Amino acid sequence: MEVPILRIGSVKAVTRFQEHLRSLGVTIPCDREIERGTNSPLRLPIRSGGIKIGNRIAVQPMEGWDGTSEGNPSESTVRRWRRFGASGAKLIWGGEAVAIAPEGRANPNQLLIAHHTEKDLAQLRTTLVDEHRRATGSDDGLLIGLQLTHSGRYCRPNKHDRAEPRIAFHHPILDRRLRLPEDFPLLTDAEIESIVEQFHVAAVRAWKLGFDFVDIKHCHGYLAHELVAAHTRGGSYGGSFENRTRFLRQIVEGIRAGAPGLYIGVRLSAFDTVPFRHDPERSSSGKLGPGIPEHYENLIPYRYGFGVNPLNPTQADLTETIRFLSLLEDLGIRLVNLTAGSPYYNPHIQRPALYPPSDGYQPPEDPLIGVARQMEATRFLKQKFPKLIMVGSAYSYLQEFLPHVAQAALRLGWVDSVGLGRMMLTYPEILWDATEGHVIQRKRICRTFSDCTTAPRKGLPSGCYPLDSYYKESELAERLTELKMQ
Ligand SMILES: Cc1cc2nc3c(=O)[nH]c(=O)nc-3n(C[C@H](O)[C@H](O)[C@H](O)COP(=O)(O)O)c2cc1C
Ligand code: SF4
Repeated sequence: MEVPILRIGSVKAVTRFQEHLRSLGVTIPCDREIERGTNSPLRLPIRSGGIKIGNRIAVQPMEGWDGTSEGNPSESTVRRWRRFGASGAKLIWGGEAVAIAPEGRANPNQLLIAHHTEKDLAQLRTTLVDEHRRATGSDDGLLIGLQLTHSGRYCRPNKHDRAEPRIAFHHPILDRRLRLPEDFPLLTDAEIESIVEQFHVAAVRAWKLGFDFVDIKHCHGYLAHELVAAHTRGGSYGGSFENRTRFLRQIVEGIRAGAPGLYIGVRLSAFDTVPFRHDPERSSSGKLGPGIPEHYENLIPYRYGFGVNPLNPTQADLTETIRFLSLLEDLGIRLVNLTAGSPYYNPHIQRPALYPPSDGYQPPEDPLIGVARQMEATRFLKQKFPKLIMVGSAYSYLQEFLPHVAQAALRLGWVDSVGLGRMMLTYPEILWDATEGHVIQRKRICRTFSDCTTAPRKGLPSGCYPLDSYYKESELAERLTELKMQ
């Protein structure tokens, strides 16, 4: 019998939550008591390969849609980074995706790293550090990176509703979604080489601005992630594993030469699945149906993903993920952040949620299954690569029980650092509060309404409209309601 989806907000006792996990048949470790103070597993430092991180709490990168059109931070961006600083997290993984070139932006208000944005980006970092020091008493062990990106297939540099894709290969399902003709041009090898150079320049800038590391983003369907899946591409960047990872290796080589003191990290979609869509047969009165995979039966062996089983692409296959992590070790990269899938074509895999974004679908499974899937992949990979510092993702859906699960996962060595995305928009200090022994403020817990995704896709700035008073007070909340009704 199918177990109904549990509304976590209605559960008072951790034992009831544990019971639900058992009935779902998923393995998510969950402690009953939260340990306080500096001995809490969440507060222990990480020291590895010269890298020092003061605790096990990380802020995940979250793309901003509120920079200026020139790519500088706005007041809202500064506010968000200040709150990241106040979270108590000692690892700031990227802050948000920052484009390495104007044409590689995912939205016209995404931050850009360039000569004219240097001053404000440096200030953004300083604001975060100052706030962190104010909130926690010290910035010792604070490690801050910048996530560098080219959005590839998902470039929208000029208008929020105008896709300007730069693709690495033809994807039979995703090309159709973007209405790309068969002869739509691929990025040439020469164009990819010049993007590699743009990454070099961007990383050197980030280093000079005082960032401790850069993340060469390899996730969520953006360019570098598409390249590792470019099995069907010819030339130097497609086909063999060696060719598909050439982009990474060339970027790393140039960074090492130009910014020798800069650490490098990689955020990777460790596995993927075929694109999902809502089931029209189960949609009713404007409510989207649950997600189902697009037809892929005529595409076997499936050659359009990374970390998928080619014979059954709805299942993960970590063989190449393991190879990729070995390559990172060989390249001397220690900082790894594991995520999965893409928000564009399988959001339930990437960010488990009860409510879908407006262009999504109802959850095809209890979102806790999605949380467990990412946690299990991270556990498995951490076991294989004990020397890599691994950050895990997709914890926000755990809501009240996030501290219990985070503590247990760290205690058991499933992961080195617990990364929070959406929860950082509503209640950045949740894990800090838990380990300080403060009462958890239930009203501030992210309930995965997905408005932080829906709103920007409709042209509104970033933020949590339902729970963050900053947005409630502004007229934007009204505007969002209007848009929802359209
Ligand atoms: C509004 C929003 C923007 C995001 N932007 C990025 C991004 O720029 N880079 C990235 O790697 N992940 C991005 N993500 C994904 C998050 O980092 C994270 O992996 C995801 O939300 C799941 O974690 P959570 O359950 O803690 O939210 C974004 C997520 C949200 C909700
Ligand atoms: S809009 Fe707010 S409550 Fe909803 S998912 Fe985003 S952060 Fe969470």
